[in-house]
Amino acid sequence: MLHPEELSPVGFGCYRITNTPAHRQALAHAVKEGCNLFDTASTYTQGNAEKMAGELAQAFPQKKLFIISKAGYITPDLFKNNTRFKKKLLLADPLYAAGTPHSIHPDFLRLQLKRSLLRLNRRCLDAFLIHNPEKCYLPSVTTDEKNSSLRQAFAFLEEMVHKGKIRYYGISSNTLPLPEADNPLPPFAQLWRIATETSPDPAFRLLQFPFNFGETAAAISHGKSSLLQQAREQHIITLSNRPLNIYRHDGLIRLGAEFNDTSDTAADEKKVMQLLEAIHRQLQLLGITEDFPVVAAVKEYWNKLSDPQAVAALFTHQFFVFIRQLFGGRIPATVTQLMQEVFDSSNRHTRYNMAQRSRQFIADLIAQGRINATDLYPIAATACRHYLNTGIDHVLLGMRSVQYVDQVKTLFHRPIHANR
Ligand SMILES: NC(=O)c1ccc[n+]([C@@H]2O[C@H](COP(=O)([O-])OP(=O)(O)OC[C@H]3O[C@@H](n4cnc5c(N)ncnc54)[C@H](OP(=O)(O)O)[C@@H]3O)[C@@H](O)[C@H]2O)c1
Repeated sequence: MLHPEELSPVGFGCYRITNTPAHRQALAHAVKEGCNLFDTASTYTQGNAEKMAGELAQAFPQKKLFIISKAGYITPDLFKNNTRFKKKLLLADPLYAAGTPHSIHPDFLRLQLKRSLLRLNRRCLDAFLIHNPEKCYLPSVTTDEKNSSLRQAFAFLEEMVHKGKIRYYGISSNTLPLPEADNPLPPFAQLWRIATETSPDPAFRLLQFPFNFGETAAAISHGKSSLLQQAREQHIITLSNRPLNIYRHDGLIRLGAEFNDTSDTAADEKKVMQLLEAIHRQLQLLGITEDFPVVAAVKEYWNKLSDPQAVAALFTHQFFVFIRQLFGGRIPATVTQLMQEVFDSSNRHTRYNMAQRSRQFIADLIAQGRINATDLYPIAATACRHYLNTGIDHVLLGMRSVQYVDQVKTLFHRPIHANR
């Protein structure tokens, strides 16, 4: 078993890892190059990411791997064949009963841990994290209720440590680094207090949160020492996630995004207009005169979206649903073809926008003196090195290809504190 101090500074993030040859090769290549830290979760690709991590460990029995998994999200499929459990959980967990699709109740964590161990084909998980617990807390939830839910969760996790089901536990949270006023989760000092009240020597050893060039809250002192300093004082291991996915008020910056658009914008626009005209004709045929915001949104934003999730949100989850309803499920072939073409061109323009925004962001980093113009390639390695030098113990990177692994492989070996 690996000691936490033996872990690779850069670890493999398994979000969006699927059972494909490319992803399998990337995982195997990372292990061969010395990566021993893998981060997954019960919700990643409906449990497939955990299965892939389990298979990876079996494929390399001679290598010691440290596997982290997480639980907290209640996905719709989970209770499909288990409505009795759902009813039981609704009675047991007041936060879930209040309407959040999330739970950190011991009953739920127990179920998820059991499923994760099965998928990973392990008797004991190296680390089990509560996944984004802030999502449990609707605005009406009181501080006492939050503390009580965390106390119950930590007590369960300590019990699992004593039973040999997990080695360490912790929290992965998107909001933990934020100032208290913006953070639905109790601050770290309070989490640590609850952990030490639960056990004099808690197995609470890991904190995971976003940290990147645009999201640096964990290194900032909000009136007291920074989250990184506080974690270090308690010998807590810090892991940053989303190193290349920088969320800003104006959308996502995907650091290192590359795309040279060769498409013809005028031709793409013509297809959008043809699709909107087909919709307009169908509305007229049905005698509908109402204006639909989703149609206006497509007309305005089809080539201005910030990331693929925004494309999916507008097209897959809204516009295409609207079109299906409009044609009563009998969409003419010409319209179906236009839908595909418009979707593809929107994705192309989005990827182009992402590449432009990334280039501009990197140019700004150089202008601000935050990175050196001579140290740019590959940007993923520059970024990871920078974050490690800022005081983060490990960076989790979604390196879903052999090429991505190659770009950061030198950071699998560097002694953790070497470059600070
Ligand atoms: N709340 C949480 O618990 C939480 C939240 C977020 C992330 N995480 C963990 O942190 C890990 C990392 O986060 P992430 O995967 O969302 O974001 P990321 O590591 O910042 O990667 C974002 C995307 O960048 C691309 N990429 C990867 N390596 C690259 C390289 N060398 N050069 C250029 N592009 C590269 C990949 O997209 P393409 O393959 O499409 O090119 C990847 O999906 C996750 O896998 C997950 O384990 C946890």
